[in-house]
Amino acid sequence: MQEIAEFLRRTGRNIGFVPTMGYLHEGHVNLMIAAKDECDILITSIFVNPVQFLPGEDFEKYPRDFMRDYYVCKQAGVDYIFNPEPDEVYGENYKTFVNVNDLSERLEGKYRPGHFTGVATVVMKFFNITKPHFAYFGQKDAQQVAILSKMVSDLNVDVEIKVCETLREESGLAMSSRNVYLSDKHRNEATILNEVLNVAKNKILTGDYEDAKTLKREMKEYIETKTPDCSLQYIAITDNYLLKKIDDLSDYEGEVLISLAAFFGKTRLIDNILFTKKI
Ligand code: PAF
Repeated sequence: MQEIAEFLRRTGRNIGFVPTMGYLHEGHVNLMIAAKDECDILITSIFVNPVQFLPGEDFEKYPRDFMRDYYVCKQAGVDYIFNPEPDEVYGENYKTFVNVNDLSERLEGKYRPGHFTGVATVVMKFFNITKPHFAYFGQKDAQQVAILSKMVSDLNVDVEIKVCETLREESGLAMSSRNVYLSDKHRNEATILNEVLNVAKNKILTGDYEDAKTLKREMKEYIETKTPDCSLQYIAITDNYLLKKIDDLSDYEGEVLISLAAFFGKTRLIDNILFTKKI
């Protein structure tokens, strides 16, 4: 893959890269279409990265179907699929990891310690292997985007990060490979996440809430009353750069990111909303 990428670069081609863990859905296709539109060559990786899963998480049962993914890639115009085996990526005595301090410990990082070290490490490795000019990520993983953007900027990585909007089902549920785990009942109930995020955004923009703590408490109460099956893990209101908590919304100006994670049964879902607030 590295030799092919090197050749493509030498021959003046612009490379777009869409890293994935497979079990592709429309959200991934959306990234591929954007990349195809802006680049000469599209490389997609399909790799369920063991290093970003914690013990007890769903690494073993993460949905995998290479042939299905292959046809999705073919349809979307992917030029190269990079599909290595874990021991090709992490050889014996593997020792080097990339950690974006501080940002990686916030939000998701509190509940999934080490997860973003795994993400940053594999993305850095895949950037070195696929040598892209542009790499495409979904806004659904807002913290991943913030961390990888910081990594690229701090380490002077010669790749431009492109962020594409979260694709949603008609119900508002954010698309995710993990949605296949949801029962019909939970799939229905999970639409509350997008609903509550939109309500909170409107309340902030109309100046209804100045204190983030009260707003988060009310969001939690709303979710728990409407969907008793849902177990909310966290709601965070932060900036979108260093992911620092915003306590007082009244004098805050700039991008506001509201993120949350919740369990429906055993399935853990994340979602977020990003918008700009002016005073
Ligand atoms: O977002 C994902 O699917 C993964 O975290 C990524 C970026 C492919 C790295 O394994």
